[in-house]
Amino acid sequence: MRTLMEEELFPSTPGKVKIERAHQMNRQLNRCFASTSIMFLWALFLIALTASYLSFQSFVSTSSRLFSSSSSSASSWGGLQWERQVRASASHRRSSGFTVLVTGAAGFVGSHCSLALHKRGDGVVGLDNFNSYYDPSLKKARQSLLSSHSIFIVNGDLNDARLLSKLFDVVPFTHVLHLAAQAGVRYAIENPSSYVHSNIAGLVTLLEAARSADPQPAVVWASSSSVYGLNDKVPFSESHRTDRPASLYAATKKAGEEITHTYNHIYGLSITGLRFFTVYGPWGRPDMAYFFFTKAILAGKPITIFRGRDRVDLARDFTYIDDIVRGCLASLDTAGKSTGSGGKKRGPAQYRIFNLGNTAPVTVPTLVSILERHLKVKAKKNVIEMPANGDVPFTHANITLAMAELGYKPTTNLEIGLKKFVKWYLSYYGFTQTGPTSTNL
Ligand SMILES: NC(=O)c1ccc[n+]([C@@H]2O[C@H](COP(=O)([O-])OP(=O)(O)OC[C@H]3O[C@@H](n4cnc5c(N)ncnc54)[C@H](O)[C@@H]3O)[C@@H](O)[C@H]2O)c1
Repeated sequence: MRTLMEEELFPSTPGKVKIERAHQMNRQLNRCFASTSIMFLWALFLIALTASYLSFQSFVSTSSRLFSSSSSSASSWGGLQWERQVRASASHRRSSGFTVLVTGAAGFVGSHCSLALHKRGDGVVGLDNFNSYYDPSLKKARQSLLSSHSIFIVNGDLNDARLLSKLFDVVPFTHVLHLAAQAGVRYAIENPSSYVHSNIAGLVTLLEAARSADPQPAVVWASSSSVYGLNDKVPFSESHRTDRPASLYAATKKAGEEITHTYNHIYGLSITGLRFFTVYGPWGRPDMAYFFFTKAILAGKPITIFRGRDRVDLARDFTYIDDIVRGCLASLDTAGKSTGSGGKKRGPAQYRIFNLGNTAPVTVPTLVSILERHLKVKAKKNVIEMPANGDVPFTHANITLAMAELGYKPTTNLEIGLKKFVKWYLSYYGFTQTGPTSTNL
């Protein structure tokens, strides 16, 4: 190869230049012809490859609608086996039981609600995109727990309209318990569009699927106490102002309340919005203070405690997960039927909003001292003034309405609830009294 290139570049005898030139032209023509044929063959090969790829794609989408094109997650769904799993999970075991689509089923509240519904004999199909906002292995572990109770979670995104339409085709859901969302107040500063994606666009996609479904399901969904924003009248009541959100998260939840109202008004969807107040407990969310304080205290690392203006301690109306689950199930039980069909409203439908809190706010330093007692470890505390990150100084729920209409009555105080959380935490992350024994941390 090297010799040939040298010969081409440097002719050996200058007198042979003319003959050489003729030969050279011939050679170039031949080479040109040869390379054109090669290019032609390559082009043919590429066309054949593209054609076979396209025909495979159309075969896949027409025969089983196997893949979702609009979802950004790595979801895969469709096919006979998948439909069988969805139907089996949706079937209820009690007479006139519900068939519930639980979105965010691999999440904290979603996994607890799915199990509770299944245990009382309702059919449950989960939907979750297993995003990495916090450690997805915790979501997978919750999925395994649900799977051991024969509850199937579809791996997909709320924004995948084809997937949602397929789910409503396969199962006539009586209810949707919509818990999927981008949660967390502070993360909105880092990734604002994730809130728009899940809490606005995803909500609209879900409501579109629900309003077109036949029968239309009743929708119960998670709003948030954060909608009270800068409201300083306590305790927070459903009749108070909610038009001054303090974070983008709160703004998207408030927008959700207005959006669901529109679907109720135009299409007759039965809507119940639940304003949860700082939910905590076993299988909780690692981005929440009680959870990451526990992790840091056990690791001997300092924790940062925010304090409000004038050195006032922050306080939260911490609500134990089992109380929230009871509130969700009572909302499903009392939800009126949607009145629309074929995308048209046939009469006015129910629209409700409830606070689900504990009505007993506790300051963050008190939360820390309860954790210290249960963990038997002293925390290294670093107290600083709260930065302007969207957090509010306190929350306190008035639950009169939920008590009257849902029979809601929280029963677990923070002392007992945190004891249960710590027990779960130590066992899940493999702790003995002296330290971690597994690689989970
Ligand atoms: N935990 C609380 O203290 C609290 C307080 C107020 C409101 N809420 C609301 O309650 C609901 C449940 O909260 P949680 O604490 O269980 O949160 P979580 O993050 O544990 O659960 C939400 C789940 O939704 C999934 N999800 C997010 N976006 C999705 C999308 N586009 N498509 C499909 N799945 C998606 C996530 O993967 C996650 O598993 C949320 O709507 C949250 O905003 C929670």
